[in-house]
Amino acid sequence: MKVLLGVTGSIAAYKSVAIARLLTKSGHEVKTILTRGGKNFISSLSISNLTVNDVFTEDDFWLPNQKVPLHIELARWPDIVVVAPATMHFLGKLAHGLADDLLTSTIAAIDKPVLLAPAMHTEMWDSRVLQDNVTRLKIFGYEFIGPYEGELSSGDRGIGRMAEPEDIIERVIQLGNTERILRGKKVVITYGGTEEEIDDVRVITNKSSGKMGISLSRRAKELGAHVIAVVGRVEVQPLYYDEIYYAKSVDTLSMTLEEIVPNADVLIMAAAVSDFKPVGRMEGKVKRGENLIVEFEPTEDILKKLSKNKKPDQIFVGFALESKNLLENAIKKMKEKGVDMIVANYATAMGNDFISGYILTREGEKIPIETLTKSELSIILFDKIAEKIGQR
Ligand code: CTP
Repeated sequence: MKVLLGVTGSIAAYKSVAIARLLTKSGHEVKTILTRGGKNFISSLSISNLTVNDVFTEDDFWLPNQKVPLHIELARWPDIVVVAPATMHFLGKLAHGLADDLLTSTIAAIDKPVLLAPAMHTEMWDSRVLQDNVTRLKIFGYEFIGPYEGELSSGDRGIGRMAEPEDIIERVIQLGNTERILRGKKVVITYGGTEEEIDDVRVITNKSSGKMGISLSRRAKELGAHVIAVVGRVEVQPLYYDEIYYAKSVDTLSMTLEEIVPNADVLIMAAAVSDFKPVGRMEGKVKRGENLIVEFEPTEDILKKLSKNKKPDQIFVGFALESKNLLENAIKKMKEKGVDMIVANYATAMGNDFISGYILTREGEKIPIETLTKSELSIILFDKIAEKIGQR
């Protein structure tokens, strides 16, 4: 595997020497970019000796007589980029497209996974501006490892310690080996709960958090997909998307999907769509007083409606949330809603980090899921989706 290692200016840079050495020893090709700050902590000579390969610094950026600019040449070379350590300053530049040196310019031109291993003092990691930049970077699909809690260079303990070289290498290999099988594919992922208005200030909703959708989006981006998130009421910050639509009510969700789904390759309906809405929304704020009786009517089944116009090469995936007769009900839903696959899970998964149940396919496959994290489920689900895309 070809790994481009970026080293920025932090005391944790001594660990990047170990990353370079271990990767090279296990047969990977490593080229390195040392930023101005990185060069203050480790030398080009030690890295080039360990990697037996090129090490670039700012002195190499924009040299005369280069046929292809160095940052473009470097951006075309690797299978994966890892920046370890990644400082607050570097993350800030990356988050805002400030490509003013060799490393940021190279990453700006890259179309491969980029893994970031931050290292900094706890107060810096916790600062709002840094956290805001991390969120921005995750939205764009950058992958993070750490930082973790531990001893810091100041002698304090806290979050900010860079991940250990072995763990960074494991993630580099995992990400670098991930075939970008969904490159060029549009994947629509709905998540969160819907909200139906009762009066001007009150809504009826459900316990969905949106966590499942974020795990799905992250995996879809890892696989190179163009992710279109359609988000209802969520408790988490939407991340890992190329486009985002906000749709809280069943009607808005339905209208939004009708517009975008015809151009999508994959639809995953992880949203917890309300099955009922109040009959006639009440005006103003209903005053406190007597018992309030709200009559509900059924909402339209969005997935069922969309499936009627499903093209043969499109793949639709639903989620079936059940409190009893899981398999029986989910199989029935898969057929009725005309989807290719359904994730049958228990109501307890709502808002939770774990999920149990089955992935069911039209072809009759029944893949058990036993207390998996939502990220683990996303990996298995997209493997199945990719398999189906391959068959069409
Ligand atoms: N769904 C939908 N439109 C609805 C309700 C649900 O598109 N009005 C979608 C969900 O996003 C999910 C799938 O259908 O992918 C199954 O949702 P679920 O709540 O499990 O089933 P329901 O169809 O609501 O049936 P029931 O409430 O009877 O279990």
